[in-house]
Amino acid sequence: MSIAKESLPLIDFQDVSFSYKNFKQEILKNVSVVFNSHAFYFLTGNSGMGKTSFLKLIYNGLLPTSGSINVLGIDTKSLNMHTRSAFRQQIGIVLQDCELFEHLNVQENVALVLKLQGYATKKANNYAEELLAWVGLGDFLKRFSKELSEGQKQRVAVARAVIRKPKILLADEPTGNVDETQSKRLIDLFKELVKMGTTVIVATHNRQLVASKEYCEYRLKDGELMRFSSLREHSSLNEQFMRMA
Ligand SMILES: Nc1ncnc2c1ncn2[C@@H]1O[C@H](COP(=O)(O)OP(=O)(O)OP(=O)(O)O)[C@@H](O)[C@H]1O
Ligand SMILES: [Mg+2]
Repeated sequence: MSIAKESLPLIDFQDVSFSYKNFKQEILKNVSVVFNSHAFYFLTGNSGMGKTSFLKLIYNGLLPTSGSINVLGIDTKSLNMHTRSAFRQQIGIVLQDCELFEHLNVQENVALVLKLQGYATKKANNYAEELLAWVGLGDFLKRFSKELSEGQKQRVAVARAVIRKPKILLADEPTGNVDETQSKRLIDLFKELVKMGTTVIVATHNRQLVASKEYCEYRLKDGELMRFSSLREHSSLNEQFMRMA
């Protein structure tokens, strides 16, 4: 039985407050929450409520103003320039504004991640090809970024983020530029990743998308984080680990 293992908190916010220096808006007000391993979450909220900031707090792009954030067993405040890169290698990030290397084609953009880790070019290219087919871009391997639509670029960014099999995947509006069918498909692909052991957090303000799926949703509003879930069978387990302030 692996229930205990699966329910271990992977990301643990304890009494976290956050605001940008010199700005009044409190993005988070004393929020305590855990995200478990092997799980899928939507992070929602209206534009400007702090979804991107929340993801940055997880991957140590920002530090909390007060409280603590523990990710993969590490207090993010303890990270420094030497340890941050190893930490980030365990986290796949799809940024809201994904940028690809313009001088590399689609396949090379994805394969580069593995090459930097020491993989031979052929092996890296093969993995990249497999993954690009998985996100529906099997016919676009040799295209360059300027020859792609925004939605296709986003899917390349997804492939690039997942190729290292990260323990955590943070995707910021990954469906922002793709149609409804593609959006749902992308979410189904993310759920496949969860089955393989990744915890996925998808930030979106697309309420229709959330409603179309079984979901565990955290919604940001005025510094508070509220939880909604359609996953009745798992809710008690999640509840156990959730400590709202
Ligand atoms: N570097 C910054 N300095 C100061 N304020 C910032 C900074 N980045 C974001 N903000 C502000 O923090 C608030 C939250 O921004 P954030 O980008 O996290 O929201 P969001 O929910 O991701 O919005 P969207 O749905 O539009 O992407 C906004 O009011 C924004 O103006
Ligand atoms: Mg955002």
